[in-house]
Amino acid sequence: MTASKKPQAQYLKDYQAPPYFIDHVDLTFDLAPLNTRVTSVMTVKKAVADATDLALDGIDLTLISIAVDGSVYSDYTLADEQLIIHNLPAHCQVTIVNEIAPKTNTSLEGLYLSGGAYCTQCEAQGFRKITYYLDRPDVLASFDVTIIADEQFTHLLSNGNKLAQGKLDNGRHFAKWQDPFKKPSYLFALVAGDFDVLEDSFVTKSGRNIELALFVDKGNLPKTPHAMASLKKSMQWDEQRFDLEYDLDIYMIVAVDFFNMGAMENKGLNIFNSKCVLANQETATDKDYHTIESIVGHEYFHNWTGNRVTCRDWFQLSLKEGLTVFRDQEFSSDLGSRALNRIDAVKVMRTHQFSEDAGPMAHPIRPEQVIEMNNFYTVTVYDKGAEVIRMMHTLLGEEKFQQGMALYFQRHDGQAVTCDDFVAAMNDASGIDLTQFKRWYSQAGTPRLIVEQNYDAQQGVFSLNIEQHAPVNQPDNVPLHIPFAIELLDAQGRSVPLSFAGNRVDHVLNVTNKQQRFSFDGLTERPVAVLLEDFSAPCIVKQQTTEADLLHIIRFARSDFSRWDAQQQLFISAVKTAIENPANNQLDDKIINALRSLLIEREGDLALISELLKLPSFDTLAAEFAVIPVDEIVAVTQQFELQIAEQLQGEFTACYQSLIDDGSVSADAVAVRALKGLCLHYLAKVDELDNNQLLVSAANSHNMTNALAALSAVVKADSPLAIELLSQFDSQWRHDVLVMDKWFALQAMQGGENAIDNIKKLYEHPCFDFSNPNRVRALVGSFSHFNTAQFHRKDGSGYQLLGDLLVKLNAINPQNASRMLTPFMSWRRYDEVRSAAMKAQLQRLAELDNLSDDLFEKVDKALQ
Ligand code: TRP
Ligand code: ZN
Repeated sequence: MTASKKPQAQYLKDYQAPPYFIDHVDLTFDLAPLNTRVTSVMTVKKAVADATDLALDGIDLTLISIAVDGSVYSDYTLADEQLIIHNLPAHCQVTIVNEIAPKTNTSLEGLYLSGGAYCTQCEAQGFRKITYYLDRPDVLASFDVTIIADEQFTHLLSNGNKLAQGKLDNGRHFAKWQDPFKKPSYLFALVAGDFDVLEDSFVTKSGRNIELALFVDKGNLPKTPHAMASLKKSMQWDEQRFDLEYDLDIYMIVAVDFFNMGAMENKGLNIFNSKCVLANQETATDKDYHTIESIVGHEYFHNWTGNRVTCRDWFQLSLKEGLTVFRDQEFSSDLGSRALNRIDAVKVMRTHQFSEDAGPMAHPIRPEQVIEMNNFYTVTVYDKGAEVIRMMHTLLGEEKFQQGMALYFQRHDGQAVTCDDFVAAMNDASGIDLTQFKRWYSQAGTPRLIVEQNYDAQQGVFSLNIEQHAPVNQPDNVPLHIPFAIELLDAQGRSVPLSFAGNRVDHVLNVTNKQQRFSFDGLTERPVAVLLEDFSAPCIVKQQTTEADLLHIIRFARSDFSRWDAQQQLFISAVKTAIENPANNQLDDKIINALRSLLIEREGDLALISELLKLPSFDTLAAEFAVIPVDEIVAVTQQFELQIAEQLQGEFTACYQSLIDDGSVSADAVAVRALKGLCLHYLAKVDELDNNQLLVSAANSHNMTNALAALSAVVKADSPLAIELLSQFDSQWRHDVLVMDKWFALQAMQGGENAIDNIKKLYEHPCFDFSNPNRVRALVGSFSHFNTAQFHRKDGSGYQLLGDLLVKLNAINPQNASRMLTPFMSWRRYDEVRSAAMKAQLQRLAELDNLSDDLFEKVDKALQ
């Protein structure tokens, strides 16, 4: 790419309020696949006295006409991605007519066709692919929308309330919608298609009746009840926990097959990836059920945190996303297991977010510089953003946090605001000074905490010396305000009350300096310290904990999360030891015995037990090394798993057989299936007749959780059963693409010499489609993220496969291409041979003539 073609970055520091406002817009869509006509009538008001030009955003639009106050207007300039209208009156009506071609739009942004239905995706900057507009979140307008289409598109939907509908000539019909709430363009939505509808209703706490409707492809009605139930739970939970009630009279969700992300919170008309809606016991796993509930919740919660109060500019994305992820996590935790939800959230942080934060795309949760906004819908903005909200919740406590939320809505309802405004509301409502805390919004990278413990037996004083270190890639960082939660355990495993010099000390320590010491007295023996309890801050803790202390924590910590965390540390140090001295590649008996007692005693939540029995992921282990020892990590974890499987085979079998799955969706049944699945995972590694019988019978289960657990176990164990079972699954499920995605993902996990060729062959499978992001992620995403041994083959053929795919996707769907690129971003962390091979793929992309901004930004950063 030549220097002149280099896309330009936008900077937070350059923010300027818009020169004009658009108070109201009246849109008419005359839908046709290749020439949809859009007529936009905007009420425009000058906002800045000396403004003369109104520069509207527009991409890939065919301009037909412009009028001002009803008369044709010619004083304008049509630039590359802008329409600049000169010398407008201070207050006027601007009418623009343009055409677009939804059928050829494969970017899945703007107006496009998804499996025969028209639908839109406007966040972040897709509205400019529909019509010329001030496509920025601080321009808030009321929208009236008229949709005209052939009658075969039975449902014509947009935001707000339906005002009218009727027949027109030539087999066409129309519907008119009005959204009374002012909104930015990114929340606009339109859908036209032929759907089955599940209808329901919800009565709010103030007694208003809300109409609920879920639109799905014909025939999918049996897969909709779970999403509808999730919606009603979300509405009720937001009333109970946050005192927030729904505002419109109707709430619609549409499921579409072609979608770039999980779902979109358009006002009153959410659009969902069908995989985040459709589920029944035969086709969806318990994990799918959980994901659906949490995403339905997430989009619903955006109605207040995102829609009623929105972002001033896109640098503030975490204002709505971090907060809404925090809210959906709390929703899941209040309805299900808090510990398991915490474990899941922390896994995302440690496997994905830490590596993003340590790599070339590291950015603060409020980025300061962006080329392509779509590249910033990241685990940092979303998940670290949620951790930052969670830390405020920890510092304030639930009551003051809710007072902060109430003040935030009181001050900012109907406005487009900044992260500073949010923190100010929390600060002012609680009286807690968050000045230093705000640095979390502007500093990238994961802080490292080095903790030293000291026990003075004579004085009975225990102390923690805590040093915070700036991340290696962000050397200029200054100290953060870190809520550091702890628990001290005595030898019997009881929690020791924390005090010093006669005063009680809170279990959340305020770490604010580069180095700080915290002391606790009145002790009669050295306590065992649980550090960063519940992952109270998104940090890496370095400490010297003995194996004995970790085993004590695993048994006795009050936080189930921290028990799991200690188990992970135990595994991590065993893996590191084995890599350092290969002669010592066995898990020691203490660990094996601890796992054995977990399986035999089965005390507490079975789903938690199954988590305690899992080794850390490759990415979690990789994070421990400056240069990732790929082959060694793969070999040691395989060896450990085989050892666990062989030594505990009897216990796994007994556990599997004694647990009864009643087939229901209750939390208990879900936990039973989780632990049974874990048993199968290990049993598949020992190729014996009895084990194989268990696996084959589970694979034939009518419950997808059980069937998939068996299939995944045989594939990951390279069991001879895999080929046959996979081929059965293909013939059984070919009619259901969402289920076939599970099959593609399993195929992608296979080992052996033919692994790469096998994937290339699957590109020809009748269900595969490069233009569908779900298919591409199922097959190639699973391969590049989870099939470590094959993706990182030393001959580079795994990288070549991904490189070839990216070249292709760059032209079809840049947003998806950019997400698929992620595994290459950490190329510098591998050995010479591998990093050179990955770098070559990045360079190959850099040289593409038609390189999209999405890929440019990441490739350019990666190669810098
Ligand atoms: N705002 C959406 C959410 O988090 C996600 C989103 C952003 C999105 N950009 C998108 C979804 C593009 C689909 C396509 O809920
Ligand atoms: Zn969101």
